[in-house]
Amino acid sequence: MASRAGSLNGKKNSEKTKIAVLGMGHVGLPTALGMADLGWEVIGADSNPQTIATLKQVKSWFYEPDLEPLLEKHLKSGLFQPTANVDQAIADSTILFVCVGTPQGDDGKADLTQIENIARMVARNLNGYKLIVEKSTVPAITAQWVKKTITRYAQIEARNAAKTAKNGKHAGEVPHFDVASNPEFLQEGRAVENFFHPDRIVMGVDSDRARELLEAIYRPLNCPIVVTNPTTSELIKHTANAFLSTKISFINMVSDICEAVGADVTNVAQGIGLDPRIGTGFLSAGIGFGGYCFPKDLRAFAYLGEEHGVDCSMLREVERINTRRIDLFMKKVRRALWVVQGKTIAVLGLAFKPRTDDIREAPALRIVEALLREGASVRLYDPEGMPNAKRMLPEETGRVAYCASAYEAAEGTNAVLLLTEWADFRNLDLERVHDLMDVPLMIDGRNLYDPAQMQRAGFEYHSMGRDTPVQFPASIVKHHPPAKRSAAQKTSKTRKRERAVVG
Ligand code: UGA
Repeated sequence: MASRAGSLNGKKNSEKTKIAVLGMGHVGLPTALGMADLGWEVIGADSNPQTIATLKQVKSWFYEPDLEPLLEKHLKSGLFQPTANVDQAIADSTILFVCVGTPQGDDGKADLTQIENIARMVARNLNGYKLIVEKSTVPAITAQWVKKTITRYAQIEARNAAKTAKNGKHAGEVPHFDVASNPEFLQEGRAVENFFHPDRIVMGVDSDRARELLEAIYRPLNCPIVVTNPTTSELIKHTANAFLSTKISFINMVSDICEAVGADVTNVAQGIGLDPRIGTGFLSAGIGFGGYCFPKDLRAFAYLGEEHGVDCSMLREVERINTRRIDLFMKKVRRALWVVQGKTIAVLGLAFKPRTDDIREAPALRIVEALLREGASVRLYDPEGMPNAKRMLPEETGRVAYCASAYEAAEGTNAVLLLTEWADFRNLDLERVHDLMDVPLMIDGRNLYDPAQMQRAGFEYHSMGRDTPVQFPASIVKHHPPAKRSAAQKTSKTRKRERAVVG
């Protein structure tokens, strides 16, 4: 892992300020360990005793690159202390990062029960100044509700304490506290890297004290810090996820047009992405976005807007385009196989994205379900996602088989489907795959291969938004002007060369 700016290498950052991270999930655990690595004393609290027991055995309950070495390092340094006693963690700390789940109700509204529970726990353990920081993705104005809830219940606690207090010195008073929003932008599979090398930190605060405390934590990371009020900060997170999802659905729509008119969506993405106003990221066409964040956050954002009378049909369409990717891919499968019933199909990739074992809302699983509904049998492989997938879709003789490698999965099949963009799948031994399959047919839902290369390797190959015969290979030619020549010194030939982009 890359070295980290500002790491105190296991030395304590402050004798007084202890941090508690509440919720040891995909966001909480990397955040807690990252802050421990910056030298803070961090309590990692989770009400699930099994999660804590696993952490104490130096294991993460989910797969995330670079996480376990950091866990080992800071269990040893003592800077990270896991506990199932959430009340105690709150009582013992000054800064509380709230990283609990915000699942979704059927209507798309975020279910904030866990956030409210934390607010009530804070109220009953408010034994001095505390800064409560929302990291979970929550709808705008949640911070205001957290503040109101803590005040409400802390006043009840204080009144009760006053009734029973013997000397009554501080009884009846609610200690001062702040609520801030500090959304996370961690991508699964890169969470540790993202923690130490953020593009920006967003902090929504309404007091200098809150701002100073958060700045003290993040200053060593040396990145732009956007300081705003809590509601704006909450909205920044939703807007970021909604915008990135929109980019994906947009390129997927373009991909369908490319397919219809005989263009290549990967070249279109390059061609537009080089414009810095557009950018190249999140323009990979395919079977759509999944995971615990984009689909849920998009619905929650649209719900929030509509609740306030805002027309969010654009966000609804982004979601519809994404949902339709599965049908569209299945049409491709039917077109290629003619009859799906009775076919044996290899599926490479089950996780919603590479470098994670997370299968929540994974498009690959929806495709597997559709294949099974249509009477195919599947041979599945994913480098990390299979244990989770097996819990949802158990092995079934003659219908569902989990395999030890991509090659085992390909054996005796009528088609291979590439559904998650794992690096391993970009570098398959194509000759071996070809020889193992009954019919060398590959349908690539993530555009991992070059159609010309697949044609040469003897495959019938279908991909997304570039299903036209290869005629003339596209490329981008980069010409760099000589370092020290001024514009006036350039010959017209040089200028022409710099302009040349061959497609
Ligand atoms: C996303 C955001 O990228 C993070 O910034 C944010 O912190 C996180 O949600 C969150 O809210 O917690 P994540 O869901 O881990 O992170 O994964 P992404 O890398 O964003 O990918 C999401 C999905 O989009 C995956 O299914 C991926 O395959 C798909 N995708 C991504 C595409 O289909 N095309 C692309 O060009 C990029």
